[in-house]
Amino acid sequence: MPGDANPQMSPAGEAPAPRSGPRHVAIIMDGNGRWAQARGRPRLFGHHAGARRVREVVECCPSLGVEYLTIFAFSTENWKRTQTEVAGLMSLFRRYISKEMNALAEKNVRVRFIGDRVRLDAKLIDLMDKLERKTAGNSGTQLTIALNYGGRDEVARATKRLARDVAEGRLDPENVDEETLPRYLDTHVLPDPDLVIRTSGEARISNFLLWQSAYAEYEFIDTLWPDFTAEELARLCGSYGRRDRRFGAVKT
Ligand code: FPP
Repeated sequence: MPGDANPQMSPAGEAPAPRSGPRHVAIIMDGNGRWAQARGRPRLFGHHAGARRVREVVECCPSLGVEYLTIFAFSTENWKRTQTEVAGLMSLFRRYISKEMNALAEKNVRVRFIGDRVRLDAKLIDLMDKLERKTAGNSGTQLTIALNYGGRDEVARATKRLARDVAEGRLDPENVDEETLPRYLDTHVLPDPDLVIRTSGEARISNFLLWQSAYAEYEFIDTLWPDFTAEELARLCGSYGRRDRRFGAVKT
C-alpha cells in the first residue's frame, strides 16, 4: 500500500544498492543542421529528425534509472536564426506536443517547460500548459523541455523576483544564501543535473543550466543529435557510474 513501505528499502527489506547511474541527465541536442546538410536537405529536415529521437530517449530513461531528463529545445539566442528556421521550429514544437501528448501521458511521463514564455505564440503556450496539466499527476520520467531558455536570462528573471520580495519585505537580504536563489529559478522543483551531454562535437555549454550544473559531469560526444540512440545514452550512463564525484571534497 502506498505510504506503508519504507522507500529506502527493497521489497525484501534490504537496503537498495547505492545508485551508480545519473538520476538527472540534461542534454544539449546539437547537430541537426549538419545532419541535414550532410544529406543535402534543409536544416528543418534535421530538426524533424531530431524531434523523432526524443521519444526513444525519453522511453529508455526508466530502464537506465534516469528519473529526470532535461532537454534543450530552443535557446534565448536561437531567435537570431533565420525567420524561416525559427518559424519552422515553433511549428515543430506545436506539432510535437499535439502528437506526443497522449503517448507521454500514457507512459506516465511528467512534462514541464522551463524558459521565458513571453516571446512564444499563444497557441504554443496553450499546448505547453495543456501538456503540463495533462501529465501533472504522473510519477514516471520527469521530462523538462527548455524552450526559449537561457541560463543567464533565467538567473536575471529569478533575481528580479528575489529583489521584489526584498523590496516588499518578504525576504531579508541578510538571509540570502546559495539555497535562496535556486528557489526562484525555473528549475526550483528539480534536482541539479548529474550528467550533461552535448552532441555534435562542440565542447561548450551555450548558456544551459548555468547555476544548476556547477558540479555536473559533462560528456561531449561527436554523434549528431538525429543519430543519438538509447544505446549511446546507456553507454554514457555507464561511464558516469565509473566517475569519482567529490564535489570539492577529498576522499577519506
Ligand atoms: C541544435 O542543432 C538544435 C536546435 C536548436 C533545436 C533542437 C530541437 C530539436 C532536437 C527538435 C525538437 C525538440 C523537441 C522537444 C520536439 P543545430 O541546428 O544548431 O545544428 P548545427 O549545429 O548542426 O547547425
